[in-house]
Amino acid sequence: MSAILLLNGPNLGILGQREPEVYGTDSLLDIEEAIQEEVAGRDWKVISFQSDTEGDLVRTLHESYDTVGAIVNPGALMIAGWSLRDALANYPRPWIEVHLSNVWAREQFRHESVIAPLADGVVVGLGALGYRLGARALLALVSDTADK
Ligand code: DQA
Repeated sequence: MSAILLLNGPNLGILGQREPEVYGTDSLLDIEEAIQEEVAGRDWKVISFQSDTEGDLVRTLHESYDTVGAIVNPGALMIAGWSLRDALANYPRPWIEVHLSNVWAREQFRHESVIAPLADGVVVGLGALGYRLGARALLALVSDTADK
């Protein structure tokens, strides 16, 4: 069975309890289940990994080259996560960057992403729906032959 990687960076393991007025009330488990629902028709499974440590995210990417695509919320690593950026540069499949909040409507320091220029697409500001849309984008981007 093919798998997609769901990669979440620092402070995203406490979704639901973290500033719900900014990030919503869905937990990471709720989001994992929503993505699984989106991709079930294609018979994909979701491998979810969250870490507050950049090196763990990098290592997970190295170990995930056999996944068919990835959804990545880097959290604040979007701003200066250069080793995450370099790991994503070598990830061989399509991947979508997702941010729950509209980072451009927030503080200036959130307006730059070092990883966005490498992403196949970016979904911003739509809350947990953004992850579902990221999954739908991968369904469209990954050819039927690539997911065998
Ligand atoms: C975030 C936005 C980032 O600026 C912030 O540091 C996060 C969450 C989002 O999903 O809106 O941790 O990536």
